[in-house]
Amino acid sequence: MHDIREAFGLDARVAVVTGGASGIGRSVAEVLASAGARVVLGDVDAQGASEVAAGIQAQGGEALAVKTDISQRPEVEALVECATGEWGGLDIMCNVAGIPTNGPLGELDEAEFDRVVGINVKGTLFGCQAAIAAMGSRGGSIINVASGAIDLAVPNYGLYALTKAAVTQLTQTLAVEVGSQGIRVNALAPGVTLTEFTQRHLKQADGSIDQQRLDAFVESMQKMSPLGLVGEAIDQAWLVLYLASDVSRFCTGQIWRANGGATIPH
Ligand SMILES: NC(=O)c1ccc[n+]([C@@H]2O[C@H](COP(=O)([O-])OP(=O)(O)OC[C@H]3O[C@@H](n4cnc5c(N)ncnc54)[C@H](O)[C@@H]3O)[C@@H](O)[C@H]2O)c1
Repeated sequence: MHDIREAFGLDARVAVVTGGASGIGRSVAEVLASAGARVVLGDVDAQGASEVAAGIQAQGGEALAVKTDISQRPEVEALVECATGEWGGLDIMCNVAGIPTNGPLGELDEAEFDRVVGINVKGTLFGCQAAIAAMGSRGGSIINVASGAIDLAVPNYGLYALTKAAVTQLTQTLAVEVGSQGIRVNALAPGVTLTEFTQRHLKQADGSIDQQRLDAFVESMQKMSPLGLVGEAIDQAWLVLYLASDVSRFCTGQIWRANGGATIPH
């Protein structure tokens, strides 16, 4: 018999989660804190991150929030320094923050290219770099977030997909470069997950979700999954718990696809 609590437990581990104010990042922060980790949430949405941290504290967990724009290297370094300064080290780095964008590649504007690459690619790289510096030779687990978009060529998603393809490549290369330091680097490639990110086009003038359009969207996305499912943020957070804990000590440089089977050619 195994002690499952001990195997998946993160007592006294220190974690940083970018994008922690909403969606997948929020769920990741809450799950890691539930497993015993001390969590620092970084997000441009300072108020949202503070509210999530307060919610974790109210449940008896340990969490802090730091306003962070991941496209700015000094801000990412300050986020990681907050974790090491407060709790003496860094064990888990979750680079979750990312943004969507739409439009055909043939008409792509250079400013939009720079903006999205700045957040999705540079922001993720800055997070990895700051984490590697903080982890040193003590080891740790870095978890990046790519997308199911890396497996498909979907019109109007080209820029988003290329930024996420870059995240998978940097994940694999870094895993090889820092493996000897005991640092593992993995990436999620989430399938369609109901968050602010996916529901932004389904809003009415007053900001509320248009239920009819949401139902139609969910139905069309369910058809892509052999399980007939659309994901929830917690589906990704459970995977992060596995990758953050020692049970995944043999896993690095991999792309993890919790996506309802949607990208299986079928
Ligand atoms: N929702 C999906 O279907 C889906 C699918 C595949 C991949 N993803 C990826 O998952 C990640 C999280 O997405 P989500 O669905 O939870 O979206 P979300 O919009 O709910 O959350 C994203 C969070 O990132 C923050 N953020 C945005 N830009 C930032 C910046 N420059 N610096 C710091 N924080 C910033 C936002 O404020 C927000 O809190 C993203 O990287 C996204 O590309 C999402």
